[in-house]
Amino acid sequence: MSFIDYSAGILIGVSSGIACYKSIEVIRELQKRGYKNIETVLTKNTVNFLSPNLFEAITGKKPYIEVFEEGRLLSHIKAVEDKKVFAIVPATANIIGKLANGIADDFLTTCYLAFKGKTLIFPSMNANMYEHSATKRNLFQLQEDGCYVVSPEEGYLACGYEGKGRLPDIETIADYIELFLHIKDSETFKQFITINLLEEDKPKPKPKDPLAGKKVLITSGGTVEPIDSVRVITNRSSGTMGKELAKMFSFLGAKVTVITGNHTARYPAYADVIEVKTVEEMYREVAVKFDESDIVIMAAAVSDFKVKNYSSKKIKKKSNLTLELEKTIDILETLGKTKKHQVLIGFAAETDNLLENGEDKLKRKNADLIVANTVGENKGFGDRNLSGYFIFKDGRKEEFSLSKPETAERIAEIVAREFFNG
Ligand code: CTP
Repeated sequence: MSFIDYSAGILIGVSSGIACYKSIEVIRELQKRGYKNIETVLTKNTVNFLSPNLFEAITGKKPYIEVFEEGRLLSHIKAVEDKKVFAIVPATANIIGKLANGIADDFLTTCYLAFKGKTLIFPSMNANMYEHSATKRNLFQLQEDGCYVVSPEEGYLACGYEGKGRLPDIETIADYIELFLHIKDSETFKQFITINLLEEDKPKPKPKDPLAGKKVLITSGGTVEPIDSVRVITNRSSGTMGKELAKMFSFLGAKVTVITGNHTARYPAYADVIEVKTVEEMYREVAVKFDESDIVIMAAAVSDFKVKNYSSKKIKKKSNLTLELEKTIDILETLGKTKKHQVLIGFAAETDNLLENGEDKLKRKNADLIVANTVGENKGFGDRNLSGYFIFKDGRKEEFSLSKPETAERIAEIVAREFFNG
């Protein structure tokens, strides 16, 4: 006894992709192979491309189009009753979206919900539409719901594009419909699908920003220590390095707060900026934020001294003036003593003995990374290029000679890589 069931009911759904004309040839091919019980359901838009008469002439049965058709009420139930396979050739992005979301607003979509057998879907559309995450999501949803999706092929598309979205050739479509018709456990069908949704078609895991959720505290600019009510001790820091760091760390997904002294650089709009003047103020603000910070970068040019006897009145120019200076608090060193989970990064601006001084600062200030760079008459402040070493806690050193934006990018990369598996 033959197990080939030529009388098995096949319902061909045709939605209005440009490739819908191929559905006619698929029906012809199935008929050639001996299948006679074929009915069709068209969307209203398909009728704009192809006459229903064509389908009637070929199948001998009037295609289903309207839900409310005189004399054929409730026929969506009838249409699927005796069917073993419902094949949608071609399936447009719109139909796929509707089916995936259970929308039943025309004959074809209503049939899909009423059908208890398995549905075979042949998507066909513009390559960009096929690649769209909404389409991918819907196709995977349909697979989850038990449909079988035969993915389109690459090639020249009717819309003029080249890419994925072509309906497979007529015989291939007929092959799959025929196979699907005979396989009892439709799970078995999976092993035959060579052009089904491939691994690469699966929605890609979303790319992650390596420092997402991390809080970065950057000190920047130059501190300002008052001498009297009008005069100050400051330095030539522009805040450029702090600005670049704020950008680069934000680009890797971190939330950045900049605590800045004097600066001419403009900090990015998405960074929180706190303006301070003195070392003392800078330290206070840093201390407030320290516990919640994951990464702290001391890029500010912090004054090492402050005037011991600040005069609230303007000092008169009577004779030579000798200022007595006292040391300011070393912010980095203080943080190094209390740090817990924080990654602590400092700069070492040196005129000589770069490596030696850099290594000494790393140890003395208990930093995780020191960016040691050479400063001189034409180097450092405002100078576009920095050269020196990234010095790591474990003794590694990486030489660099980069612009400020590049240096900031390298630092962000190093921090993501070394401390956050980025
Ligand atoms: N720093 C700080 N507080 C200070 C001075 C410096 O936090 N009062 C930080 C700087 O922001 C920088 C690092 O310490 O990240 C090294 O600064 P640098 O001026 O190069 O070193 P000093 O410790 O000041 O040592 P020296 O001036 O002797 O080179």
